[in-house]
Amino acid sequence: MEPSFSKEFKERFQSSLGNISNLYNSIYGFHPAGAEGFIQLLETIEKAFAEREDELKQRDQEKLETEPTHWFLSNEICGMSLYVDRFCGSIKELKNKLDYFEKLGVNLLHLMPVFESPEGASDGGYAVSDFRKIDNRFGKLDDLKELEDEMRKRNMYLMIDIVLNHTSDQHEWAMKAKGGDKHYQDYFYFFDDRTEPDEYEKSMPEIFPEAAPGNFIYIKECDKWVMTVFHNYQWDLNYTNPQVFVEMIDTIFFYANLGVDILRIDAPAFIWKEKGTRCQNLPQAHALLQLIKLCVQVATPGMALLGEAIVRPQEIMKYFGTDDKEAKECDFAYNATQMALQWDALATGDTRVMMAAQDVLLKKPYGTSWIIYTRCHDDIGLGYDDQMIDKAGFKPYEHRKFLKEYYSGNYSGSTAKGALFSINEKTGDARISGSLASLCGLETAIDKNDAAAIDLSIQKILMMQAMSFFIGGTPMIFYGDESGHLNDYSYLNENGKSYDNRWMHRPIIDWEKNENVDKPGTIEHTIFTSTQKLIQLRKIIPVIADKKNLTWLRPHNIHVAGFLRAWDDERVYCLFNFSRRKQSLTWYAFKENGMKPSQLFDHWSEKTFDVGMDNEYFVLPPYSFFILEPK
Ligand code: GLC
Repeated sequence: MEPSFSKEFKERFQSSLGNISNLYNSIYGFHPAGAEGFIQLLETIEKAFAEREDELKQRDQEKLETEPTHWFLSNEICGMSLYVDRFCGSIKELKNKLDYFEKLGVNLLHLMPVFESPEGASDGGYAVSDFRKIDNRFGKLDDLKELEDEMRKRNMYLMIDIVLNHTSDQHEWAMKAKGGDKHYQDYFYFFDDRTEPDEYEKSMPEIFPEAAPGNFIYIKECDKWVMTVFHNYQWDLNYTNPQVFVEMIDTIFFYANLGVDILRIDAPAFIWKEKGTRCQNLPQAHALLQLIKLCVQVATPGMALLGEAIVRPQEIMKYFGTDDKEAKECDFAYNATQMALQWDALATGDTRVMMAAQDVLLKKPYGTSWIIYTRCHDDIGLGYDDQMIDKAGFKPYEHRKFLKEYYSGNYSGSTAKGALFSINEKTGDARISGSLASLCGLETAIDKNDAAAIDLSIQKILMMQAMSFFIGGTPMIFYGDESGHLNDYSYLNENGKSYDNRWMHRPIIDWEKNENVDKPGTIEHTIFTSTQKLIQLRKIIPVIADKKNLTWLRPHNIHVAGFLRAWDDERVYCLFNFSRRKQSLTWYAFKENGMKPSQLFDHWSEKTFDVGMDNEYFVLPPYSFFILEPK
């Protein structure tokens, strides 16, 4: 029987076809296999819709009809990102943990890569050897489907990755290419000798200079060189070949039809390469993402796209789409700039570099959103602009040197316990590894058995989390941070992991110890219940939804960052003291935005403050924060 296409699908298809064709031709128009690839692309879109379960189609429709706009802008969504095996062992067991997430208030799960990847080194699953088979370590596809059914019943959302830029060297395509199959060699960047790789290398930076120097490796089986931007075992897919695009869009639909709500597109900045460039953020990479967005919007419109572009601030912004493609590329991007700048401000006690970045960040188009976070599975990069550091009155080189020393425990007076990741001897660059709690000083404080220092580090943890929870976007908690997990050094004894210190902040959860979240008086309980409260507050304060409704307060005090979230008659002031000292703000700070509140109710401490005269002060204890509603 011929599949039946709904009226809505046909309308979406017809109205997008022109744009799909233009974008496709802008990339593949001159490719000998371009025309054939286009027909395959259209067939793939039709197949995706035809195979989509009715329940998912209905969910698409509900999401499209969300009032006033975009389901994913809601303040009621809060996520957690986790490695299934390290969190609880298997996908089946994860189903038993749904109550735990619900208790915390988390209703969106990001499962770190669960599709098949080689044992041993696999970059935490980001070297995929089969895009459609769940790795035995985690379970089976049916387990994922069962998990999802249960999640849907509980109104929870699912996010997974598509590793778009590369495959594992054990993927069938890579194995065939290695064996000399020309068709599959064209799926990657293969070269007969070093001539072209050497040309590329002139302008390509290294991503993992310590673990994987250079961007090409020699394959002795076929006497050729292949491009491997990340690790040697991650081979870059060749998107100049339309066949690769069609294969990967088909995989994207496979994930969409599993019921994925948000698809995390891993490393999209890298998907197009051009000699003489850094091979990052190229216009063709954006065109491919826009094309993916259009195809998804036609066939599986309930799935939002997150572009994991961890690049310079101005470049991140472009993943939302620019000019006539504004808000037509990725629905989400990670606010990596804000994340890193919060760590910057925490170390210096000075918010000026963070403030210098806000003009850029506020340009995010309406209808798109951030994934906001303090920590994730990756390192903290300090890739924001020198100019932002200059503007705050610091010297970029010295400033970054200080931050690296501060967080790697090499600065006297710093209680942070992290490590430098991917040190580049040639450029002096390095990023930072470490868990939220350890970077906030909890590990040092516990080692010293110093109760006051423990309290202060908990305060830092919560202030960092609160800022990301209220600044706008969907919070993504990194598993373990909800209960204050310290660095986990067991990775040093794990095969395929010891060379990569990002594993220090990817803990193996000890559920016996984690039961402390229910035991008042424990550190775990304090952090868990406070995180729970922050999530609840987000959910009951509608103005926190991401409606491009944030105004920064004027910098009355360089140690305090503050913003106003406003919509209709609703107003909330959010203030964060990044300093280890008590700070004060004149009450006038609350009267600059056309308001004259007489009282401010703090949702966090549940205290009410009488607004004083302009020559009097509102006092913020060290590392405190306030969510103030004017009365
Ligand atoms: C992304 C992932 C990171 C991984 C890289 C290569 O940046 O977050 O963990 O190493 O892509 O796949």
